[in-house]
Amino acid sequence: MKTFYITTPIYYPSGKFHIGSAYTTCLCDTLARYKKLQGYDTRFLTGTDEHGLKIQQAAEAAGKTPQQHVDYIAGLAKDLWKTLSIENDDFIRTTEPRHEHVVEGIFERLIQQDDIYLGDYSGHYCVQCEAYFTATQIKEGNICPDCGRETKIVKEHTYFLRLSKYADRLLAFIAANPDFITPETRKNEVVAFIKSGLNDLSVSRTSFGWGIKVLSDPKHVIYVWIDALSNYISALGYTTQDDGLYRKYWINGDEVLHVVGKDILRFHAVYWPIMLMALDIPIKFRLFAHGWYMMKDGKMSKSKGNVIYPEPLVARYGLDAFRYYIVKELPYGNDGVFTPEDYIGRINTDLVNDLGNLVSRTVAMANKYFGGIVRKTEHAHETRKFELELENVALETTAEYFRSMDEFKVTQALVANSRLVARTNKLIDETTPWNLAKDPALKPVLEATLYHLLEAIRIATILYRPVLIESCDKIFAALGVPAVRRGFDAARFGITESYVVAKELDHLFPRLDAEKEIEAVKAMMNQQKPVEIPAAVQKPEITIDEFAKLELLVGHVKNCIKHPNAAKLLILSVDTGDRVRQIVSGIAQYYKPEELIGRRVVVVANLKPVKLRDELSEGMILCAERDKGFVLVEAPDAPAGAVIS
Ligand code: MSP
Repeated sequence: MKTFYITTPIYYPSGKFHIGSAYTTCLCDTLARYKKLQGYDTRFLTGTDEHGLKIQQAAEAAGKTPQQHVDYIAGLAKDLWKTLSIENDDFIRTTEPRHEHVVEGIFERLIQQDDIYLGDYSGHYCVQCEAYFTATQIKEGNICPDCGRETKIVKEHTYFLRLSKYADRLLAFIAANPDFITPETRKNEVVAFIKSGLNDLSVSRTSFGWGIKVLSDPKHVIYVWIDALSNYISALGYTTQDDGLYRKYWINGDEVLHVVGKDILRFHAVYWPIMLMALDIPIKFRLFAHGWYMMKDGKMSKSKGNVIYPEPLVARYGLDAFRYYIVKELPYGNDGVFTPEDYIGRINTDLVNDLGNLVSRTVAMANKYFGGIVRKTEHAHETRKFELELENVALETTAEYFRSMDEFKVTQALVANSRLVARTNKLIDETTPWNLAKDPALKPVLEATLYHLLEAIRIATILYRPVLIESCDKIFAALGVPAVRRGFDAARFGITESYVVAKELDHLFPRLDAEKEIEAVKAMMNQQKPVEIPAAVQKPEITIDEFAKLELLVGHVKNCIKHPNAAKLLILSVDTGDRVRQIVSGIAQYYKPEELIGRRVVVVANLKPVKLRDELSEGMILCAERDKGFVLVEAPDAPAGAVIS
């Protein structure tokens, strides 16, 4: 069986993930599922990039240790990938020992063979990009050419990687492997960059400590990109006893694909292959660099407040709608703009009106005219020409779909499939089944029409499988398609002898009131202030009068249950002396409901009531941070309702 190893970049976000960061992962998940359906033995890796000055500074600003900060980030990533049904086989964190040991070993080896040497460096350093720039690269005012932030002049005793030694070999490799970097325009950028001259790269830092130490010289921390790029092989067990995955998916593997955003092209197209050459590891991977999701006013950014997050979109419009939009709307290799109008429009047009409507009309007609049983039927009626046309479109669609997907052109593949769906809908207009039904002599013609509709839906559904996770199974179930006719090899007309269609269609895509929903998405964009990492920094002084505004009472927990729709929430009934009130608290990860009953806790009683996932919360229970979780603040000897002052 052929192998396919696909990776996302490992994420390095400062907080919650917006839809732009979710794009790479959704795209990789789509490609991984596609390859799996093609019969490849697929391995899909993602993870988090957890070292570097930026992380150290972000942790300090939040009053956390770097480890606490990265645990939080890794948790966000894992939660989101679960929400988006991402089927990754592994999740690597660069603070894991399995990764750190490999990076230490790589660095030592490169020192020993003199590919890494000690020297001095002075240059313009951008903390945001974790990169040095030369005087000619930076913009006026010492501005970073990549992110537009101010750089600082940093002087360091540092180790260097001999990039210059490998420049010619890399150019020769790129020339000999025209598919190595796609799209072509990105390849041209890389070639121009290498030809402009490669300086040796500074690959260690002494100015901060949050990173992997150089084993033989521990005052140096290994440059975060050398650390991060190594994840693609450390996760496979490179240089360990247990290197079976490395041998299977890399050394003896058939296809390796790194998918990255355009902003990190240079690291993957220049530094990474040079590291591999120096380590004498074959460059097995291909690189696909995609564009960015932008907002109307430019880059998505938390400080601008123009971000949109995946979770509320999934909650309101469903998983499949989100996945469909996100992988379809960004044109191959280019940037695209997210707008509420496009989001709602895309769902309404492609999924609700075209696909959803086609399936529900067809299922209804199969039941109405044939009691749900539709057989393959031949006839010589004039409508045969429309059926032939549809059969042809299905052939063309599958060919275009596979060609596009093989080139990572998911948008084109989905556009082709939408055309098949549209052509299928057209068959209903052309044949007008309700008219055919009026003449009993035309029953075989009507049955052939329905058979064609069902076969075309089945084929389109097969092609949608890598993207639409929930709907395809529902459609197959409605049409009674057995597993043997759901695979890519079954994406052709005429292989079904008869359909036994379900009486009812499981709800697919609800119709959206465009105007109202556009407003709803806009509201998500406006209201959603990002959830910041809670800061433990000192807060401004308050007066005793300000403190007195708080009503703190001892509460006796009478009952506690899990929230029906939110895994992290518990619903408590708390006696605060005056009454028993309901309080929703986000401590389900730390306490079982039964552990809380009978406890006497501290309640902020005059907090404005809110609804948390549809459940009223009249107050808040105080907790203290401990390790990576929370413990209750308790007043075990005080009666319910006692005032805390
Ligand atoms: N940690 C590095 C990668 C190291 S890989 C050895 C990093 N992380 S990141 O979190 O900043 O970015 C992760 C991915 O998200 C990148 O591919 C980046 O291009 C992508 N995106 C971030 N914002 C994006 C959009 N607005 N649109 C599309 N992709 C975007 O870089």
